[in-house]
Order: sequence, then structure tokens, then C-alpha cells
Amino acid sequence: MPGPGAFLFGEEEKKEVMDVLEKGYLFRYGSEDDAHFLHKVATFEKEFAKYIGAKHCVALSSGTGALLTCLAALGIGPGDEVIVPGYTFIASISSIIYAKAIPVFAEIDESLTVDPDDIEKKITEKTKAVMPVHMLGNPCNMDKIMKIAQKHNLYVIEDTCQAAGAAYKGRKLGTIGDIGAFSLNCFKTISAGDGGIVVTDDDMLFERAFGFHDQGHKPSRMGVEVGKRSMIGLNFRINELTGAVALAQLRKIDQILSMLHQKKKKLKSMLSSIEGVQFRKINDPEECATLLTLLFQDKQTADRFCEKAGTKTVFYSGWHVYNNMENILGKKMPTKINCPFTCPYYNEKIEYSHNMLPKTDDILQRAVNISIGVVDPGLGAGYGISILSDDQEIEKVGKNIQELIEEIL
Ligand SMILES: Cc1ncc(COP(=O)(O)O)c(C=O)c1O
Repeated sequence: MPGPGAFLFGEEEKKEVMDVLEKGYLFRYGSEDDAHFLHKVATFEKEFAKYIGAKHCVALSSGTGALLTCLAALGIGPGDEVIVPGYTFIASISSIIYAKAIPVFAEIDESLTVDPDDIEKKITEKTKAVMPVHMLGNPCNMDKIMKIAQKHNLYVIEDTCQAAGAAYKGRKLGTIGDIGAFSLNCFKTISAGDGGIVVTDDDMLFERAFGFHDQGHKPSRMGVEVGKRSMIGLNFRINELTGAVALAQLRKIDQILSMLHQKKKKLKSMLSSIEGVQFRKINDPEECATLLTLLFQDKQTADRFCEKAGTKTVFYSGWHVYNNMENILGKKMPTKINCPFTCPYYNEKIEYSHNMLPKTDDILQRAVNISIGVVDPGLGAGYGISILSDDQEIEKVGKNIQELIEEIL
């Protein structure tokens, strides 16, 4: 299993799921008077909102669906520009495209999260929102991002898909901007196989997010009568089985984070005194600790390390790097006519091209991800330890990294 939560699937998840199956009631809505209805999804939403410190929460079918729901709730649409880092999973970008808005790429800094200074450079009169992505569990520089957003009157959508449970200056990620999105896929801090979450403090955004995720209905499907729906929605609901697993996982989240921090600390301390290698900047110690990122002085040294370790620098790791997104590169976004990428009438507006973000390229060419809790070659983190690694294994991997670095420097 690739992600920390999934490594800890156990009796608790089994019990929650079996309770639902034994009652035989799998739909997320039901009557309080029906003894078969166990309201696992609703309980998960209530407990997640409390855990994260948000007023409202909607559980839905994926992180991608959660991001699209955030954009729809904010009313972001044709012609609007949304600033997003060039180092992120494609879903941050594709959700903007399917909202028929325009993703505008910004550079990252040595935290491997979006560079606030570059956000400011990318703002135009069309910019409606910023989507900071808390990459690899590391909080973005939210103080600077919120300041810029306030100055330019922009919405902030936190893509917290890789960082459930992490915090920035005492506030859980996802609750700092206007609205936050999470994923429960198998690579995440907590998992239900697949699933997503939207959180917000804003009553109107909640109502719109809920409606978008379920055919325009008001929260908890009150007002299903004809004539009461104020918007058109889709269906991103989850059922009680997913809700049951998510609930059991949520109740383990602090245990998961504490195990990750303990293991990362041990591995990091073994590598801290090595000259010539640094770690990426961590913007708050309450990060997720799912990965340890080494930053070498130059690309050549990083490549030499990777060759010996049998891994790749983040630049070449695939999935999460704009340079490797063949479905975006070379395409132009339309300014007015919005049928993204299938539309033959592209206007000369924004083109996505190889090496358009030189700072991002430089950092990613020097960066190597070592797995702590997320074991995923797609992140360049097929090498390292897992949440279940014992001290002996951590020491073995730590010594191996030390030796490899000594050999190449
Ligand atoms: C940063 C980021 N955003 C969005 C998503 C999309 O989440 P999901 O796979 O649940 O649709 C992911 C998933 O990997 C992600 O890492």
C-alpha cells in the first residue's frame, strides 16, 4: 500500500464497514428513525470539520471532485485565471480547466510549494483565485499568500490533498483560505481507497459546494421538493462504505502523523551533518512528514546520487511536474470560447511549454524525495522507508544514503 493511512488499515476499518454491511443500508442519506441507517458519511463530515477546525465539511468522491466543487462554489468560470504552481498533481490544473477557467503557472521555491513572489508577478485583471498546493505535506507560505490575496481581492483555494492534518502557525491546512480540498485516495495521510473532502467556514460557499456535489440540493438534501433548488449540480456523493473507512481512518490521523514525524526525525538526524546536501525548506514543523526531500547543490550531483540509489530526481519523476504533462504542453488556453483542448479556436493567450518555469526546473532537478510514509515512484519516492519501518530498517536506509552521498561528493 503506497500511503501512510492505507498501511494502517485494520480491525477498526473492518468493523465500521461490517456494521454498515450488516445493516444493509449504503446510501448516505436516510431517516434518523431507520435503525438500518448508520449515517457514517454524516458522522465523518462532523468529526472531520471538528478535527480540522472548519465550520462546514462535505465528503465527496475524490480530491479532483473536491477541487472542482471548490471552484464551482466560488463561481469561477470562463475567462477567469487561477494561479497554480507548476509542481503539483495534474488534478489541480485539470479541475481549473474543467471549470472552464485558465490555469496560470507560478514557480515554486525551495519548500517545493508555490513561490508567493511569483504569484504576485502572475496576477492580471482576469485573476480570480490562487490555488496554493501543500505539496508533499509541506504547508505553503500562507502568511504571504493570504496577504497577496487580500491585496488583490483574490479567492484562495487550498489544495490540501497531500497534507491532511498538517498545520501552519497553529491552524490546520485547508482552513486558512476561503475553501479547502482534500483527497482520500490510497497515497494520502488517511485513505478510503478513494474519496475527497471540502471544508469552509462560509455558509454560502458550503451551500453551493453541497449543491454542486449533489444535484443542487441544499445540505443534507433538505429542500428536495421541486422548486427549491437554487443551482444545478452533479453527483460526487460517497456511500456509507467509503464513509465507514474514512471515519476509522480519521480516528487514527494523529497516531499516523506522530508515527511519521518520529520516523522522519530519526532518518533526518542521520543525514543532517552531511556536507553538500540540504533539505527542502519546511514552512512549519507541523507538516505531514510524509517525505524527506534532499536538495543537492546541482543537477549533476543529484543525478549521480539517483543513479546509485536507483531512483530519480523529482524533475524526472513523472506525474507531478508540469514539464512531464504531455496533455498540457504545447496547448494554448482559449480566452473566450471555452472547450478546453478540444476546441479548434484557441486564441493566442497562454501557452504551456517545456521549461517555462526555470526556477522550478532548477529546484526539481536538484531535489530527491525519500519516502517516509508515501511510497510512490510517481513522486520520485520509490526509495526510502515506510510508516511501518522499524528502527533497524531506518538505520539501514540512513546508512545507505550516507554511503551513497559520500561516494558521489
Ligand atoms: C496535490 C493533489 N491535488 C489533487 C489530487 C487529486 O486527488 P484524487 O486522486 O483524490 O482525485 C491529488 C491526488 O493525488 C493531489 O496530490
